[in-house]
Amino acid sequence: MTATVHVDLPGREYDIHIGPGLLDQAGPYVAAFGGRKHICIITDETVAVLHLAQLQAGLTAAGLTSEALALPAGEATKCWAQLEKSVEWLLSQKVERGDVVIAFGGGVIGDLAGFAAAIMRRGVRFVQIPTTLLAQVDSSVGGKTGINSPMGKNLIGAFHQPSLVLADTALLGTLTARDFLAGYGEVVKYGMLGDAAFFDWLETQGPALAAGDMDARIRAVTRSCEMKADIVRRDEKENGDRALLNLGHTFGHALEAATGYSDRLLHGEGVAIGCALAFELSARLGLCSQEDPSRVRAHLRDMGMKVDMADIAGDLPDAAGLLALMGQDKKVLDGKLRFVLARGIGDAFMTSDVPSDVVLSVLDDALALKKSRG
Ligand code: GLY
Repeated sequence: MTATVHVDLPGREYDIHIGPGLLDQAGPYVAAFGGRKHICIITDETVAVLHLAQLQAGLTAAGLTSEALALPAGEATKCWAQLEKSVEWLLSQKVERGDVVIAFGGGVIGDLAGFAAAIMRRGVRFVQIPTTLLAQVDSSVGGKTGINSPMGKNLIGAFHQPSLVLADTALLGTLTARDFLAGYGEVVKYGMLGDAAFFDWLETQGPALAAGDMDARIRAVTRSCEMKADIVRRDEKENGDRALLNLGHTFGHALEAATGYSDRLLHGEGVAIGCALAFELSARLGLCSQEDPSRVRAHLRDMGMKVDMADIAGDLPDAAGLLALMGQDKKVLDGKLRFVLARGIGDAFMTSDVPSDVVLSVLDDALALKKSRG
């Protein structure tokens, strides 16, 4: 079974195909774009070992030759040095304006290879073949590409939409449970921000989905992509509604910065804890009932995910230190913190009107809980 979501951007529209076995069909999809019959693939060393031979065999069967550049796995690869290496490699492969480059990996590879494609010869087409749940439901869709700066994450980049996304859900089977659940943090975010019925469904189907139920996985990736495609269609460049996708990210980015963007806290884990904190803040501001943050936390707990700051190993800065880290987030506008808050599950909105003493009280209580648990 394969599902398709269309991203309806005039002049830059594309399909996202979702289902098991799509990797084997990449050849015909890519060949249909025309261009040279030589395809450049940018991937990472982990994905290359697991899946590259399968991708290249499919391309060969469709009459395409291919060459791959495998970069080190991990966030540190999203840097100037690896971008330069990628662009120079694509040039050495004589990639032309009409060619297609494949980004084959998780969010790091999608962002880096997409950015390389954006600036190569002022823009060549690229196909995203995301291999992680996080990349399938979020980073491969919507055209945000880029690298990190020593000044902060994702500060250098461009909007460059892919020409196609192939989300092969069978590839999720090789993820560690931790990486899968980190990606699930972004899935559940969609329910919390705009689809209460999807959140209800995840509450009942989430455990089966995590255990490997393929139909549930396809449905979760498809609904997530539909919601993202709809938001991106309305607001491609994040002048408005697209910022709703940042639910949980203001708190989450501060926690990621506080833990040095390390293995102590994966991005999706930071988002999940951040969503719980955003709902707690919303309840304290009287925007939603206290039941909503409790329900969010209960579901994350049922899934075996990190829910509280207490679930992050090691020390964290105090509340004022965390608030200062939030101030460094890209989402600051005119010096004011912008939060995505919620009037209930499935009803998020943006606001800059949040008293910092209430934010500090939420952080203080979360840190006190962490201290009490030792
Ligand atoms: N990951 C958030 C966005 O694509 O806008």
